[in-house]
Amino acid sequence: MSVREMRRFRRDPLRYIEDRARRSPAAVFQLPWGAWCVRDTEQALTVLHDPMFHGGMSTFFGDMLPSRAAQTALGRAVRNLVRAHVPAYRQSLSEAAAGLGPVSRWPGAGPMLVYRCTADVLLHPGAPPALRRQLEQAVAAGLTARQPRMRERARAEVLRPKLLAAITEQVRVRRAEGNWAEGSLAGEPRDVLDAVIAACPDELPDGTAANLYVLLFQSIVGNIGYAVAWALLLACVHHPSGPPWPWPADWLVREAGRCRPFVWMVGRPVPHALEFGGLPFAAGTVLSVSPYLLHHDPHRWDRPEMFRPERWNEPGGQGPYLPFSAGPFTCAGAAVAHTFITEAVAVLAQDARLTVSGGDARPLISGSVLPRPFTLHRTLKTPVRPAPTKGSGPR
Ligand code: HEM
Repeated sequence: MSVREMRRFRRDPLRYIEDRARRSPAAVFQLPWGAWCVRDTEQALTVLHDPMFHGGMSTFFGDMLPSRAAQTALGRAVRNLVRAHVPAYRQSLSEAAAGLGPVSRWPGAGPMLVYRCTADVLLHPGAPPALRRQLEQAVAAGLTARQPRMRERARAEVLRPKLLAAITEQVRVRRAEGNWAEGSLAGEPRDVLDAVIAACPDELPDGTAANLYVLLFQSIVGNIGYAVAWALLLACVHHPSGPPWPWPADWLVREAGRCRPFVWMVGRPVPHALEFGGLPFAAGTVLSVSPYLLHHDPHRWDRPEMFRPERWNEPGGQGPYLPFSAGPFTCAGAAVAHTFITEAVAVLAQDARLTVSGGDARPLISGSVLPRPFTLHRTLKTPVRPAPTKGSGPR
């Protein structure tokens, strides 16, 4: 790849892959880092669903767990625990939203808001206070996603080794005490760390369990928090007069996930030498599918470049939608994540005037699709008192 091409990619990766996809005569084109991207929607869906590409382990967990069965079990255990936390999450949202104040800095405020509402399921209230503080500091520093700018990335990443060491120690303590299983009612996990420890084989090193925990912590706090940020930003940019928006939060969140899927590329290694999309591929070559490209296929979506939450109410108005990927390796937490995002957006918009300044809907890409910094102004509308009707006043 020429330096010029590389620069074009760095400047705007999404536009770059859209351009390449449009110009590519084949169903597959090469990405700057050597992997291949499946441009054709039909073929991309084949990669995501065909058992041939799912005989091994999912790349989400990498090689941290010994088997696919262990990966699936861990994903389900954490998903079930987080799902059980939905009512508590809902209850804490209003307070967390009020805590933002009239002016808040985003997108960082998104993960912090989600953290405040999930802190007790991430680490139960009886966990060492210093560890809970460390987790909060990691969120504040931006460790819940790979930061696109060097300075911010360094500020966040400097905390990772210490956080991992502290969680590793907590895994050691809980394993030694055995109280991840008995410390709570009927051996139910008290928090995500208990769920991770319970689902990990005994011989898995403490440090690996800690890494798995951080991976899931990032998925919960970061992925959900940044998705909330995208939904608010896009709604405010496209509807500057603010809420009440003409769309329910559910359509808005779906449309934001279509326009700006947080995970813009998922990969599947080719299991053995084969021909795909008319090209030969060696075993181990990565075939990537871009949810962003599929969400913008003009043959599958009506005016895909437009932000139109109302499309979610149009019969047959939706094409392939995969912000959480699809097929055997699809996100285990997809449904609960969607609920969390939608509830947060609804609570923030309720009885409030919302506007953004510095809002720029072009994404920053670094591992994932992040919103650029913006400021959210949120003022509560004075509740309108119903006008007294004749004869209804105090006597
Ligand atoms: C906005 C929020 C989220 C987004 C956008 C997201 C997206 C994704 C994506 C794209 C994958 C990769 C699938 C693939 O390789 O094809 C994935 C995997 C996964 N996600 Fe999420 N995720 C989110 C939230 C969550 C939450 C809240 C949890 C846990 C409660 C979670 C747990 C998982 C697990 C366990 C996997 C691995 C699935 C497997 O390999 O079996 N995710 N996620």
